Amino acid sequence: MPANYYTLNKIIIAIDGHSSCGKSTLAKTLGKALGYAYISTGDMYRAVTLYFIENQVDIGDAEAVSAALKKINLEFKLRPEGNCIFLNGRNVDKEIRTMAVNELVSPVATISAVRRAMVSQQQAMGEAKGIVMDGRDIGTVVFPNAELIIFLTAEVEERARRRYIELIEKGMDVNFETVKHNLEERDCIDSSRKDSPLVKAERAVVVDNTHLNHEQQLEFVLGMVKKKLEN
Ligand code: DC
Repeated sequence: MPANYYTLNKIIIAIDGHSSCGKSTLAKTLGKALGYAYISTGDMYRAVTLYFIENQVDIGDAEAVSAALKKINLEFKLRPEGNCIFLNGRNVDKEIRTMAVNELVSPVATISAVRRAMVSQQQAMGEAKGIVMDGRDIGTVVFPNAELIIFLTAEVEERARRRYIELIEKGMDVNFETVKHNLEERDCIDSSRKDSPLVKAERAVVVDNTHLNHEQQLEFVLGMVKKKLEN
């Protein structure tokens, strides 16, 4: 199938799933293969969390949160290393992945005012279609009518191993048990929160990548995209 086939028949691809199961990698490789934009919405919640930490915003104070949200401007810009998030004009792609942000981001993502602000920006990004977006509520809330909805999953031990290696490679001083514990805690908060919990959308196709490498996963999902476009 020629590359421009996808560009002529633009669809929305939503990817949801637990922490560290490779959603962003899949969104990125899929976006590149299709010539589509790709957005990891977790980066947006992380950038908001970073702003709250840096500006000592009390997340239990609704007024302070809503005042802070008005001061936050988020943009994605393509850089050689990928689609980087800018917080008020500053590239924060690295800073949003520290343990300090990891520990606060799930509680921040439970705040409805934060979610409303993020969801409306995400929906605007998808207006022209031709987008792969990953997160926790993309197929259930942001784009429930997306042409393809994927629920990505992998065994927790494997997810913790991948996240641990990623952090070590970035030079961070972490231990495996702490990384695994943080991951399980985030899964629990994300799946049990009142507003837009992480659940499998009814129309979602489950993809378990525990035993798949990046290439195998991409090939499998591209097969599904091709089928969608043929129907
Ligand atoms: O995908 P990630 O690990 O970078 O996401 C960070 C946090 O943001 C995650 O704990 C839950 C939250 N999140 C969310 O609530 N909704 C989304 N659409 C994306 C992320």
